[in-house]
Amino acid sequence: MQVINRIDQMKDLIRDIRRQGKTVGFVPTMGYLHEGHLTLMRTAKRKTDFVAASIFVNPLQFGVGEDYEDYPRDLSRDTELAEGAGVEAIFAPAVRDMYPPGYATFVEVEKLTGKLCGRSRPGHFRGVTTVVTKLLNIVEPDIAFFGQKDAQQVIVLQKMAQDLNMNVEIEVVPTVREQDGLAMSSRNTYLAPAEREAALVLSRSLDMAAKLVDSGERNIPFLKSEVTEFITGEPLAKIDYVDILSVPDLEERETLEGKALLALAVYIGKTRLIDNVILTV
Ligand code: PAJ
Repeated sequence: MQVINRIDQMKDLIRDIRRQGKTVGFVPTMGYLHEGHLTLMRTAKRKTDFVAASIFVNPLQFGVGEDYEDYPRDLSRDTELAEGAGVEAIFAPAVRDMYPPGYATFVEVEKLTGKLCGRSRPGHFRGVTTVVTKLLNIVEPDIAFFGQKDAQQVIVLQKMAQDLNMNVEIEVVPTVREQDGLAMSSRNTYLAPAEREAALVLSRSLDMAAKLVDSGERNIPFLKSEVTEFITGEPLAKIDYVDILSVPDLEERETLEGKALLALAVYIGKTRLIDNVILTV
């Protein structure tokens, strides 16, 4: 296992791997790894010969007043966990190398980023698409792996890869959950015990909506209001958004047809959590 900080060294390593005729899988992360990240890494190991992961808390995707400074970091623990999941190289660049003084180039996907998290976190997806483009240019993987946990992120990145004719396949891995249903997230570490319990309202509201759909409900405004009411019943929860949109275009509809994304962002105390489910009829 190698931990590489410098961009030119990472490019040299990948060049060597390519010379050996190996395929490259890539898992971008912001670190503080949990079973969700590790599942992406294991999936990458099954599908490609050489797996690289990045650990980079990207300042560009955090808004003013968000948790960039407080975001949990533990590179030595992450290195050990990633190695156990089959990762052979970790790329952990410095902020000043990724964004040196005078840095001026940004990647922006329009329309899709005006919905859901893009609406409550202006500039967030511009930060994500810019850093992922840079990371993909450095690592040049055959396949890059992302989690369904961040459903809009995956939709935006797939659109970017398609629109910019990138030579990479974007593969989506299902959301990994705790036993009780809470979607794994590095931000779950912020939750106090009572908040951890309250956080179950997210996955439970998604289950409830999926059951309503299974029993024949097709009215989107009704489904949204049921989910909203369910979450509002939890005193520690404050809704940022509850939305049901078509996939992959993220358009509003009145009636469920085919596939739709039910996505939520909910504050539990000060911690903003997201979760989602694909509703299929
Ligand atoms: P981060 O939040 O660290 O997540 C890294 C990857 O792990 C993302 O693809 C995310 O969707 C996936 N992931 C997180 N929790 C998951 C879970 N419970 N189940 C399955 N996959 C999960 O997402 C980012 O970092 C950043 O925006 C990044 C893409 C690295 C760009 O900076």
